[in-house]
Amino acid sequence: MTLNILDNLKIRYRRIRIASSLHRNDTLGALHRAWAYVYATVLPGDYYEFGVYKGTSLINSWLSQQYFHQRLERSEQLPFKRTGTVARFLAQAPTFYGFDTFNGMPDNSEGEDALAPGSFRSAIADVTRRCAVAGLHSPEVRLVPGLFSETKNQIGPNQAAIVHIDCDLYGSTVDALDAIAPRLTQGTVLLFDDYNLFRANKNQGERRALTEFTQKTGLSIEPWFAYGPAAQAFLCHR
Ligand SMILES: C[S@@+](CC[C@H](N)C(=O)[O-])C[C@H]1O[C@@H](n2cnc3c(N)ncnc32)[C@H](O)[C@@H]1O
Repeated sequence: MTLNILDNLKIRYRRIRIASSLHRNDTLGALHRAWAYVYATVLPGDYYEFGVYKGTSLINSWLSQQYFHQRLERSEQLPFKRTGTVARFLAQAPTFYGFDTFNGMPDNSEGEDALAPGSFRSAIADVTRRCAVAGLHSPEVRLVPGLFSETKNQIGPNQAAIVHIDCDLYGSTVDALDAIAPRLTQGTVLLFDDYNLFRANKNQGERRALTEFTQKTGLSIEPWFAYGPAAQAFLCHR
C-alpha cells in the first residue's frame, strides 16, 4: 500500500517533470541532458556560457547541475561506492562562467535586424540579482563583462565540462571558440544554440565558425543531438 502510494507519487512527479521545459527538446532540455551526461560519465570541469543576456540559460544550467549533483550524492543504489573517482568528482563544485558584453550585441555585418548592434541589451547587476534569487552566488558564478575578444584572459584554469555558445554571430563565435580552446578536453559538451541560424548556411554564423575552428585546430567535434529551432550539441574528442 505504502509502496503504491510512493510509486504513484513518483509517477506524478515524473509527469510534472515531463510537462516542464526540462524535458522538452529545447535549450533547457539540452542543458539538462548535457548535465545528465556529465554526471553519468563523471566528467569534471566548469560550465562556460558565451552569450548570457538576462541569465535564463545560465541559471537553468546551474539548476540542472544541482539536480544531478544531489541525485548522485543521495543515491544508495549505485553499483559503486562514492570513493576514488566519484568522491573526487563530487568534491569539485563547477564554476559557472558567463561571458557577455551585458550591453547588447556588438557591431556586426550579419545584416539581420534581430541581431543588430545593441539588441539583447542587459545589465550585469540584474543578472547577478537573478542568480542570487535562484541561490547562485559568487564565486560559484563568475559574470565577465566585455567583448569575448577582450576577456579571454579571464577564462578559468580548469577544463570545461560544458560550453554553451549562444552568441548568434560568426565573429563572436570565432572569438568564443578561440578563448575556450585550451580548456576543451575529451568529452567536453559543446552546445551551439544558433548552429542552423541563417537557414543553415555553412558560410555564416556559428556553423561557419565551428567548421573553421576544427580545420584550424584539428580537433574532432562529433555531432551529438539537435534541439530547439536551430541548435546542435556536439562532443569534443581530444
Ligand atoms: C541570444 S542572447 C543569449 C541568451 C541567453 N543564453 C539565454 O538563453 O538566456 C546573445 C548574447 O550574446 C552576447 N554577445 C554576442 N556577441 C558577443 C561578443 N562578441 N562579446 C560579448 N557578448 C556577446 C549579446 O550581448 C547577447 O546578450
